[in-house]
Amino acid sequence: MTRLRPPFPSRAVAVAVSLAAAGLVRAETTFFQARIAPILDRHCVSCHGPEKQKAKLRLDSFDAVMRGAESGVMVKPGDPRGSELFRRITLPASDEEVMPTDGKPLLSRDEIRNIELWIAGGASSSKVVSDFPGAPPLRRFKAAEPAWAPDWRSRAAEIAALEERFHVRLVPRSQVPTDGLVLRTASSPGRCDDAVLAGLAPIASLIVEAELARTPITDVGVAALAGWENLRSMDLTRTSVTAAGLAALAGSKSLEVVNLTDTSVDDAGVAPLRALPALRRLWVHGTKVSPGASGGG
Ligand code: HEC
Repeated sequence: MTRLRPPFPSRAVAVAVSLAAAGLVRAETTFFQARIAPILDRHCVSCHGPEKQKAKLRLDSFDAVMRGAESGVMVKPGDPRGSELFRRITLPASDEEVMPTDGKPLLSRDEIRNIELWIAGGASSSKVVSDFPGAPPLRRFKAAEPAWAPDWRSRAAEIAALEERFHVRLVPRSQVPTDGLVLRTASSPGRCDDAVLAGLAPIASLIVEAELARTPITDVGVAALAGWENLRSMDLTRTSVTAAGLAALAGSKSLEVVNLTDTSVDDAGVAPLRALPALRRLWVHGTKVSPGASGGG
């Protein structure tokens, strides 16, 4: 990797650190740790981290970000526009290459601005927050943000037992324990059926995303999901879901993203979803939903 800046910390950091060592003030956290890592953690690490490494890219540490992907460097210090990572997060939602993929919520303008300033400022690991006076504070300040789900940590043993029993994965969405769990079935989708969804009921309130593409679940299972009170996103790609199952979701206050790609649903079938108060994205590619009515993607 090319370094455009000397690899030693700025004088400001050195002072902060020595005062901290003397017990006088807390060391000022770096801009990367305070602003960039939380953004990547929340939006990217589920696919580019310890669990999955899409495009052989990890974004869960400074070194990993700078190492880049199989295809090369993703961040060019000093050059946001020339950085593939920046290009991907600034594409329109309808672009196939936009990150994050799969209908996950895109980065906010302020999040994008923080990443832009960080890259423009040399993609530094040592610059501190006060080095970026123009960086907008992030609205989703961790401490103040309402929990997405109850803290899962006290239920860890129960969660592990359910994973083992049902051959699914229940993966924390981020390092924040109240960000909930992602139900993953992709390693063996054929095993996740309606009975499995029923069996997960005791911990359903912890699950915020359900990845159910290509599973044999039916409308019965989809109706069960209606009771998962904190579920924000469900992927029903290539399942046998019909209008009857979707109708059961009509009361959901939490659902933001529903992916119905390659299912047989039609305009009438998705009508109840369009009325959901929290819905942000509906994916209807490869369905009978008429293009004019779609608004998805
Ligand atoms: C749901 C999974 C998922 C999430 C979340 C996700 N990505 Fe990706 N990412 C992929 C996949 C799959 C690819 C490979 C296909 C492609 O290049 O579009 C990829 C590719 C990339 C690439 C291109 C790698 C290359 O070799 O050119 C970059 C850069 C990238 N992602 C950045 C991000 C960033 C930044 C975030 C968070 C804002 C993010 N991704 C979130 C799945 C994801």
